Amino acid sequence: MIIQDNYSLKELNTFHFDVKSDFFCTPKNEEEIIEALSNPLVKDIPLLVLGGGSNVLFKTDFKGLILKPNIQTVQIIEESNSHVIVECGAGVDWDYFVEWSVNQGYYGIENLSLIPGNVGASPVQNIGAYGVEVKDVILQVNGIFLDTLEPFSFKNEECQFDYRNSIFKNTLKDKTIITSVTFELQKQGELKADYGNIKEELQKYDEINLSTIRKAIIAIRESKLPDHQVFGNCGSFFKNPVVENDIANRILDQYPNAPHYKVGDSYTKIPAGWLIEQCNWKGKGTENAQVHQQQALVIINKTGRATGKEVLLLAEMIQHSVMEKFNIQIEKEVNVI
Ligand code: EPU
Repeated sequence: MIIQDNYSLKELNTFHFDVKSDFFCTPKNEEEIIEALSNPLVKDIPLLVLGGGSNVLFKTDFKGLILKPNIQTVQIIEESNSHVIVECGAGVDWDYFVEWSVNQGYYGIENLSLIPGNVGASPVQNIGAYGVEVKDVILQVNGIFLDTLEPFSFKNEECQFDYRNSIFKNTLKDKTIITSVTFELQKQGELKADYGNIKEELQKYDEINLSTIRKAIIAIRESKLPDHQVFGNCGSFFKNPVVENDIANRILDQYPNAPHYKVGDSYTKIPAGWLIEQCNWKGKGTENAQVHQQQALVIINKTGRATGKEVLLLAEMIQHSVMEKFNIQIEKEVNVI
């Protein structure tokens, strides 16, 4: 297991910030993870487990060890007439796994097409899009505790999944490394084609099936979300705030067409992108960072020369505007390192 030093992270974070890590390794299996973590060179220094780098913002160089699991196995461990149970290695590219399951005719994750990142990171923030969250198909999450190097397997209900949240972002933050995720996918499933503009996009196809849903979602995402290879970004920078109905009603009195979604009886979710757009931030920013023209929830590294600090400064200005105009505190979705 080779541990490299002074390693460039420029291609390993989708903002493409030019930062380095003191030490870096990419273990291929559980044994190599344990070997790396037992190395005296990296004992007692900060440790960061990195997935696809699509939800992190590096403020500066990382003074420690970055471990990027490269476990690439996709294995069917149980199969019946109605469903399959698949264990997928943490290092598998998320969209490769979606494409594979759509090609096999397995239902469940087609709406999560083209989300950047790796399978191992998907449960951490419970990735979601177009009416589906990854928690809907996760059976268990498998990994290793960093302090004892003992293995664990958490069942879905033990992961405390919530909107863009899980136990791995809270009680177990920085305490585990996820090595694989076990999914249950259906052989005869129901397609979720009602969310947002999927229906409209699907009119371009003769039939609605797994493959056309995937194609439609890819087309929608490509039209709204910037390609990080062109403009570095980390997808949604902020979470959509959930506010008390009183606050939402006050906004709706003033903007009757404001998009909003009921959350239980007492709360309403208001898209942060809409709030930011109302504050006139679309297409605006600092010297090197900008609010994306097509989707205000996304901040882009416009010139390729932005730093994490500059993006955070822009984010603070945006939060300040939304607070001033709507009295709502929008929270970052991205993980600041
Ligand atoms: N909106 C605006 N202006 C904008 C952006 C959005 O007015 O600049 C309005 C839209 O018109 C729409 C509403 O806000 O009425 C919701 O927009 P959209 O459907 O694009 O979704 P979102 O709430 O902005 C969330 C996820 C995305 C996911 C989409 C689709 C979060 C933080 N983001 O965005 O996830 O792809 O729904 O399901 O929940 C990600 O996490 O990186 C991500 C891209």
